[in-house]
Amino acid sequence: MTDGGRRGDGFPDGFVWGAATASYQIEGAVREDGRGPSIWDVFSHTPGKTANGDTGDVAVDHYHRWRQDIDLMRELGLGAYRFSVAWPRVIPNGVGAVNQKGLDFYDRLVDGLLEAGIEPWLTLYHWDLPQALAEEGGLTHRDIAGAFGEYTEAVTRRLGDRVGNWITINEPFVAAFLGYWWGVHAPGETSRAAGLAAAHNLLRMHGTAMDVIRDTVPDARAGITLNLSPVYTLFDTEADEEEVSIRDGVANRWFLDPVFRGEYPDDIVRRYGDDMPEIEPEDMALISRPTDFLGINYYNPTYVKADDDAPFGQGPAWPEGERTATGWLVEPRGLTDLLDRVHRDYSPREIYITENGAAYDDEPPLEGRLHDPRRIAYYHGHLDACLDAIGAGVPLKGYFAWSLMDNFEWAEGYSKRFGIVYVDYATQERTRKDSARWYANVIQDNALLDEGAIG
Ligand code: FCB
Repeated sequence: MTDGGRRGDGFPDGFVWGAATASYQIEGAVREDGRGPSIWDVFSHTPGKTANGDTGDVAVDHYHRWRQDIDLMRELGLGAYRFSVAWPRVIPNGVGAVNQKGLDFYDRLVDGLLEAGIEPWLTLYHWDLPQALAEEGGLTHRDIAGAFGEYTEAVTRRLGDRVGNWITINEPFVAAFLGYWWGVHAPGETSRAAGLAAAHNLLRMHGTAMDVIRDTVPDARAGITLNLSPVYTLFDTEADEEEVSIRDGVANRWFLDPVFRGEYPDDIVRRYGDDMPEIEPEDMALISRPTDFLGINYYNPTYVKADDDAPFGQGPAWPEGERTATGWLVEPRGLTDLLDRVHRDYSPREIYITENGAAYDDEPPLEGRLHDPRRIAYYHGHLDACLDAIGAGVPLKGYFAWSLMDNFEWAEGYSKRFGIVYVDYATQERTRKDSARWYANVIQDNALLDEGAIG
């Protein structure tokens, strides 16, 4: 490390530094200790649904290697670890009997984190819906919110004495629209009405969980995580600007407005017409319960063009520029714009970046080292964007890298490596990438360091 690398712009005192994962992406052990099947087990085992037919059966075997993974986190100096609980481990059939063995796993994990001085940040729903519920309509059925409330209660009663930060739902946009509208994620339905019903119910699940958390762990802090993307156009006709507003409405306002204002955006409601889900009188009050923070997952901005008919595609409207292995444009200023806008329009009490990171085609480690300068540049750019937002008054209180380690990247299987720690999938060996070493230095100094500051 160079001395110059140590001189960086400081983050505020108490800034939370973390890394994130999700249950189905890392745990494996899908049939152990009474876990029931989830929609992702069924989907990933359906031919043609994931790259190479990959499944989460083994994933990175975190269920057995969690101690070693906590050691890794400790070496990185993480102050916080965001993980998710698998609903089908806790209530294998989705409703009914609680499986204490499933809860035991998270109990041990939480104790291990606390012993290591790492704050647990627990996500209740990161997409592994119990398959038994899917057979009853899954997220499209209104009863799902009540079932989620019972599950939330089982988890809060067991872990609420030690877990201070709760995230209800991860990315309702992706869970609902990719799962039920475009069919590229589990359970693979392709109906707009189903997607909208699922989105509405995910928000009702969020509100229901907020109530349960407030009742059972009144001192805990809780919020939701949304994936948000600022929308731009490279063109300047009125039609292009209109397209920007529509895309923003579908992807961002559709979730921000109900959570923070208790209403859906009118312009988009009109577009959806008869596909709008049934909304009961009490729904919007439930969905807009006060939260302690908003979690934002940011990866890239969105570019649109009036005649770009590929929905959410990265079509001809996109600028040239650095892209990751997933084809996502690297544009850190999008994060500053987004944070400024969310703060201005919705004023969440606090904001945390609950995911941000990049997949690149890493070469396997050589003598224990793996050089991933592009990933470091990605993190550097986005942390700089965070500093800009903080400087402009955004109450950004923490940042979680996605991901702690390489893992099962949903429909992309194991083909996309997002980790700051490399996993050899044949041996399950973990190796810190240079990005992990760099991030550890950033954490230690609580400051943005030069990209070369790899201790
Ligand atoms: C987000 C998901 C997360 C991971 C990253 C790359 O949409 O929340 O599980 O797959 O994308």
